[in-house]
Amino acid sequence: MTRKTVRIAMNGVTGRMGYRQHLVRSILALREAGGLDLGDGTVLWPEPILIGRRAHALAEIAERHGLEHVSTDLDAVLADPTVDIYFDSQVTSAREAALTKAIAAGKHVYTEKPTATGLAGALELARLAREKGIKHGVVQDKIFLPGLLKLKRLIDGGFFGRILSVRGEFGYWVFEGDWQPAQRPSWNYRAADGGGIVVDMFPHWEYVLHELFGRVTSVQALATTHIPQRWDEQGKPYDATADDAAYGVFELAGGIVAQINSSWAVRVNRDELVEFQVDGTEGSAVAGLRGCRVQHRSATPKPVWNPDVPATEVFRDQWQEVPDNTGFDNGFKAQWELFLKHVCADGPYHWDLLAGARGVQLAELGLRSSVEGRRIDVPEISL
Ligand SMILES: NC(=O)c1ccc[n+]([C@@H]2O[C@H](COP(=O)([O-])OP(=O)(O)OC[C@H]3O[C@@H](n4cnc5c(N)ncnc54)[C@H](O)[C@@H]3O)[C@@H](O)[C@H]2O)c1
Repeated sequence: MTRKTVRIAMNGVTGRMGYRQHLVRSILALREAGGLDLGDGTVLWPEPILIGRRAHALAEIAERHGLEHVSTDLDAVLADPTVDIYFDSQVTSAREAALTKAIAAGKHVYTEKPTATGLAGALELARLAREKGIKHGVVQDKIFLPGLLKLKRLIDGGFFGRILSVRGEFGYWVFEGDWQPAQRPSWNYRAADGGGIVVDMFPHWEYVLHELFGRVTSVQALATTHIPQRWDEQGKPYDATADDAAYGVFELAGGIVAQINSSWAVRVNRDELVEFQVDGTEGSAVAGLRGCRVQHRSATPKPVWNPDVPATEVFRDQWQEVPDNTGFDNGFKAQWELFLKHVCADGPYHWDLLAGARGVQLAELGLRSSVEGRRIDVPEISL
């Protein structure tokens, strides 16, 4: 086996996603496994360079994990010809400028979503990447979740017959920050800082719907701010200027109707923090992050509406759990592996900056739909 080092500049690793999912659960997990086997006698050895604004925070992470390379100077790292990939999990508002620099420096780029704060910027990034001839990828972790992989398996196996509708329920209560600290960063609730649940979640819904059921062709959304005041990381009150809940209806190519509620102001009465119910002529399924339950047409009960008598059946017990039948890896790591194989061994990969731009487009049109109070067509984008 030949060992080949791939150097990855990771910007935003002090943040929630950058640290836990991308550094620890993906890149460091790959190193713990001895590297990534490319299947051609080569093992890829990812070498992260931690980038950020606070040297002491980076040094602390590097020491905790025995890493050597940290820098607060992005330009210098990008000018280093031994660096192969730039990865970005910074706050959304800082992303576009950093990605633009990395592309100009000829680095391959891999990034969290949303790729930019508006469609024009997201498309420009995709154009620049194409012109420069670099490889590019955008995180689309949800389709690598066990629950959604099982759902995909059902779709591919023809379980549903004709799919009619998708109903998604996402959310949980995010504490305001006064009497209990908030479990999300305060920038998420400030529009000027790139916050808002539409900008955060609609990019996810775009690729989930597109990959599993069909391209989104129209959106009608109502975005609102249920909790207008919150308390930040320092305990200071601030005005929540971004939406914290969005109620959306999406038409998909092929005629499926999807309806997804997204909220940071809802208490969980479900098995998982996100669940999608899919109803088809032959059967239905409810998929979450990990689990997936089905009810086939042949086992569908026949409830009769009668509010005068108590329910005689426990409807939730009438569903059957879909077995794993395989091991499931962390979704972020699974996608990193595909991207690294794409960069280093020309493996197939289509979750690129154009795909990322589709997510930004859906968020932008969703917000416009809410402001204008009408359904809006989602045109197909290309470069
Ligand atoms: N794929 C997913 O499921 C998922 C989930 C949550 C967040 N995200 C995305 O990941 C990105 C980071 O989100 P997070 O929740 O980890 O945020 P976070 O606030 O925890 O981390 C943000 C990171 O950006 C850095 N940063 C750079 N410039 C900054 C600035 N001007 N102000 C504040 N911080 C700055 C911070 O130091 C930190 O490392 C966002 O773009 C978000 O949309 C993706």
